Amino acid sequence: MNHISIEQKLISREEDVTPTVLRAMENTTDARLKELVTSLVTHLHAFVGETRPTEAEFEYGLRWIAALGHHTNDFNNEVVLAADVLGISTLIDLINNDGMQGETMSALLGPFYRGAAPICASGDCIARSDTPGAGLYFTGRVTGVNGQPIADASLDVWQASPVGLYENQDETQDDFNLRGKFTTDADGRFHFVSVKPAGYPVPTDGPVGDLLRAQNREPMRPAHIHFIVSAPGHKTLITQIFADSLEALVGDVVFGAKKQIVGNFVRYDEPHPDYPGVAAPFFTCDYEFKLVEGTPCFPVPPISGKKG
Ligand code: BEZ
Ligand code: FE
Repeated sequence: MNHISIEQKLISREEDVTPTVLRAMENTTDARLKELVTSLVTHLHAFVGETRPTEAEFEYGLRWIAALGHHTNDFNNEVVLAADVLGISTLIDLINNDGMQGETMSALLGPFYRGAAPICASGDCIARSDTPGAGLYFTGRVTGVNGQPIADASLDVWQASPVGLYENQDETQDDFNLRGKFTTDADGRFHFVSVKPAGYPVPTDGPVGDLLRAQNREPMRPAHIHFIVSAPGHKTLITQIFADSLEALVGDVVFGAKKQIVGNFVRYDEPHPDYPGVAAPFFTCDYEFKLVEGTPCFPVPPISGKKG
C-alpha cells in the first residue's frame, strides 16, 4: 500500500489547487449541487489560470462583487442587473424557454418586478399618478398554442413611465403607478389603458454602471411593457412587448429584445370611438399571448418596495 505523506497532500504548486478543491467537495450529498459547483469551480479556476489576474485585480473584482450586494435593497437589485448586462440572464432564459412548441417567447424578468400589484378590471387605467406622454390602449388575448382561448388567465403588467423610471425608482410617482393585474374574460381577452412606454437607461449609479462606462456601452433598454401571464395547467410566461426602433432593439444593454415580441403600436391623432377613455394623441397595441401546457411557476420578486 502506497503511503502518502502529509507534505504530499498539501498544495505546493498551482496545478495542485483544482484537483484538491474538487476532492474536498466530493461528498456533496445533493447530486445537482455537486454537478453545479464542481463545474463552476472548474471553469472559474480555468479562467484564473488563463487570465492570471494580479492580486490588485483580484481585490478589485472582489470589491466589485461586494458592491453588488451593497447596492441591492428594497427598490434596486444590482445582482440581477449584473447578470442581465453580462448576458447570463438571456442565456438562462433561452435555455429554459426555447418557444419550440409555438408559445410566445419569453423575455427577462428584470430587477423591477414588485409583485402584489393592484387587481384591476378590464379597461382600467394603470397610470395612477399624473404621468406624462401619449396614451396607450392595449388589447390582448391569452390562448393556448392551438389558439383556444384561456379564460381567467392572469396578467401581471408593469412598465416604466415615459420619463424612463419605474415607480419604485421615482419618488414623484404614486405607489404601484403603471402596475396592475388583469384577468381574461371567457374569450381570453383583456384590455387596459396606460401611457406609451419610453426607452430608459438601467441604473448606472452602482458597480454595474462603473462596468458599462469602462466598456463604453450605452445603458439603454428599448421601450417595452412587462407581462407575467399565467393560467392553471400552463407554463407561466414572463415576457416583454417591445415598442421601439430596430436600432434601439439591437442596442438593448441586457440583450433582451426578440423579434416575435415586438408589438404593433399604431398612432391615432384623433379620439376614436373604439378606444374610449384615452385622449388623443394615443397608440393602440394588440397582442396575442400563447401559453404552452405545463406547471405554473411564479418568480420571486427581485424588489419589494419603493423609493421614498
Ligand atoms: C427591465 O426591463 O425592467 C430591466 C431588465 C434588465 C435590467 C434592467 C431593467
Ligand atoms: Fe423594464
